[in-house]
Amino acid sequence: MKILVTGGTGYIGSHTVVELQQAGYEVVIIDNLSNSNREVLKGIEAITGKAPVFVEGDCTDINTLRKLFEENPGIQGIINFAASKAVGESVQKPLLYYRNNLNTLINLLECMPEYGVKGIVFSSSCTVYGEPDVNPIDETAPIKPATSPYGNTKQISEEIITDYVHSGAPIKSIILRYFNPIGAHPSAKIGELPLGVPQNLVPYLTQTAAGIRKELTVFGDDYNTPDGSCIRDYIDVVDLAKAHVVAMRRMLDGEDTDSIEIFNLGTGRGVSVLELIHDFELSTGMAVPHKIGPRREGDIEQIWAIPDKANNVLGWTAETPVGETLANAWRWQCSLK
Ligand code: WQD
Repeated sequence: MKILVTGGTGYIGSHTVVELQQAGYEVVIIDNLSNSNREVLKGIEAITGKAPVFVEGDCTDINTLRKLFEENPGIQGIINFAASKAVGESVQKPLLYYRNNLNTLINLLECMPEYGVKGIVFSSSCTVYGEPDVNPIDETAPIKPATSPYGNTKQISEEIITDYVHSGAPIKSIILRYFNPIGAHPSAKIGELPLGVPQNLVPYLTQTAAGIRKELTVFGDDYNTPDGSCIRDYIDVVDLAKAHVVAMRRMLDGEDTDSIEIFNLGTGRGVSVLELIHDFELSTGMAVPHKIGPRREGDIEQIWAIPDKANNVLGWTAETPVGETLANAWRWQCSLK
């Protein structure tokens, strides 16, 4: 079975390619390398012993996609990771985000019936929920108005898929709403490669422990949470990657599944920023110099998942303890030059 992974040299994409290959799928990657590099392909091959087919290209150009499908016949499914994903940048450059994220998806959907592609797994985000009224949340939690163009592209993308399937398009889709992916492959051959100053907590934290950053700023400890810092549902990136393999198998092999299914992918456990720092120090023995700073604009106070639907319907559960995930992140950080 051949699967196209867009954005497959990115953080979550590369970990998913590894799991797809290890599950016996043939993988074709398309990536424009705008937020990743070719070295990732060596890391994937070092883990699985198999080099995925790699096409350097931009999914916003439908001719690039048509050429890829013609040169790689037999693609049965797509996992779409290719998107711009920095919340803050999306506020500064909304048109770049709408053009890249929406045109990519529309082009892929248009190509699917033309080339006999049966299903698409879409990389969505818990950001579509905004600030939940109550936590934890399942898939029936209300979708709130997006708080950033990035989050809006995820909401609109879900609607585009829904409308296209409801129009009678001969395809299926599984939409996966990720909570906070963290960590790295235990082999330390692939991991997160943030460009410039990391915006996300864990890469900033590991760079601080490595002495690359002077100290970590905790963005606020005056929230209405037990220790005052924000709470998130941190999910191991390999566990997350495995969920995509299960979703692809369900979508392509599952007889009586709905044409569209949505799953929250989380651990079901809320962890605060200060707890995560403590967990990191415990599991690695490394100190993380940190201070309390002002809140970051746009931050949600607390959000974590009810993962029952993914556990019981999809048949997938996040298993890696957060301490092990953080140890893997640290091992990856140490492997970087
Ligand atoms: C987590 C917590 C920060 C950095 C975003 C997107 C989401 C997804 C993941 C793309 C927050 C705090 C962070 C720092 C800190 N992106 N923090 N100091 O904002 O929950 O989610 O990234 O798919 O869609 O919204 O993740 O890692 O940026 O922040 O205190 O230096 O860590 O305030 O509470 P976030 P994050």
